[in-house]
Amino acid sequence: MVIDVLRATTTLTVALGHGASEVHPVATPEEAFRKRALLPQALLCGEREGRRIEGFDLGNSPYEYPVTAVSRRALIFASTNGSLAMLDAAGARRRVLAAFVNLQAVAERVAGERKIVIVCAGKLGGFALEDAACAGLLLERLIQRGATAEGPGAAIARTLAPRDAEETRALVQGAAHGRYLRTLGPEFARDVDFCGDLDALDRAFEI
Ligand code: MLT
Repeated sequence: MVIDVLRATTTLTVALGHGASEVHPVATPEEAFRKRALLPQALLCGEREGRRIEGFDLGNSPYEYPVTAVSRRALIFASTNGSLAMLDAAGARRRVLAAFVNLQAVAERVAGERKIVIVCAGKLGGFALEDAACAGLLLERLIQRGATAEGPGAAIARTLAPRDAEETRALVQGAAHGRYLRTLGPEFARDVDFCGDLDALDRAFEI
């Protein structure tokens, strides 16, 4: 399970819901360009400091991935933190993309699993409140289904879990990266709004 609420796993859930065929996370823009040489039909997607990378087809806004742009297209995805978290989870049997927008769908999709490891993307190797809180709420929902949470990280994350949609929205708006993205302009503020919309989407995807 990989969580990058702002914005990678939110955006990729939208993209896969709009028919994108596959996602290839890469660590750097250079790697993305090299991979595209092998996959010429793929779209180059990703950001640095929140903005679309020079020469890329798409940035990291969920609004940049309509059906018309991504249906049946492979995505080569290079974001600052989310891509690295997806690569960290590459060895897992299943790699489910989780965010606040599809939390219930994720809980239902992994409900039968014997062991679940949650990888939070964080920010530049550090803590990101929105990711830990999302993990906490997911744990609460899985515990309601009979799961048990293990480890200090899980215990701390559960204390951060928002109680409802309103608290979720406020938490994402107030998170450091949420505040940063909003300084970039109204279209980014709109992204932050969307990323805090609890259970807005009813599907969960694996890459
Ligand atoms: C990331 O992967 O670091 C984030 O998704 C960055 C962003 O979209 O602003």
